[in-house]
Amino acid sequence: MDSKTVSKVDVPYEHWDRFFSPVACVVMITTVDTEGRINAASFATCVRVNHEPTCIAFTVEKNKDTYHNVLATQEFVVNIPSFDRAILEKVRIVGVRFARGVNELEKAGLTAIPARVVKPPRIEECKSHFECKVEWVKEWLNRLMVVGRVVAASANEDCVDKDGYAVLEKLRPAHYCGKAFKTKLKDGALFVAAYETMEVDMIYQGPEVEQT
Ligand SMILES: Cc1cc2nc3c(=O)[nH]c(=O)nc-3n(C[C@H](O)[C@H](O)[C@H](O)COP(=O)(O)O)c2cc1C
Repeated sequence: MDSKTVSKVDVPYEHWDRFFSPVACVVMITTVDTEGRINAASFATCVRVNHEPTCIAFTVEKNKDTYHNVLATQEFVVNIPSFDRAILEKVRIVGVRFARGVNELEKAGLTAIPARVVKPPRIEECKSHFECKVEWVKEWLNRLMVVGRVVAASANEDCVDKDGYAVLEKLRPAHYCGKAFKTKLKDGALFVAAYETMEVDMIYQGPEVEQT
């Protein structure tokens, strides 16, 4: 894994929206409890939901450590791993239901580095990081829907261009396929690469196009 020697650069405010790409991806979210103990969990439900201010949403099952920590501290960091077997194996370890108080980063052999603004750490081995403060939450079914406002963003320096656009072939983000395939979770979990791009032209010529 290309960690430890990687230098992270801050992504300025005006580029946060364009840099969260694709709009949804598999992530590891770090939080701390009221005593500052680190927690990490994997999420497939993470989506960028507003442009200005840049806001990111996810849902977490009630009574998970992330649920308690987000409600108690109002902060979290979204860390985006790449589509590489070594880090996705760690995404799976971080997704194991460890007992409350266990630091999943230690279990997975991942490195906590300080965040730029918030208390939860960044995960060094991830390529980009969005530090968030809770904007609103909603309890729903057995879940908590969390929307966070980005307060700092950073990335490996080769993953962001000078205009703040994502260098997708370096970031190489992934989606989690969930239960859509007949894999048994204990054996294999399926991920799909999310960085093949295709620019699609506007072929509709109606007057509404001007407004969008
Ligand atoms: C790839 C992957 C995606 C996951 N996505 C979610 C999710 O979107 N929401 C959720 O509540 N749990 C999700 N999980 C399960 C949590 O990561 C898992 O329940 C974890 O134990 C919660 O940790 P916590 O108690 O430390 O918060 C996912 C797990 C994996 C491996």
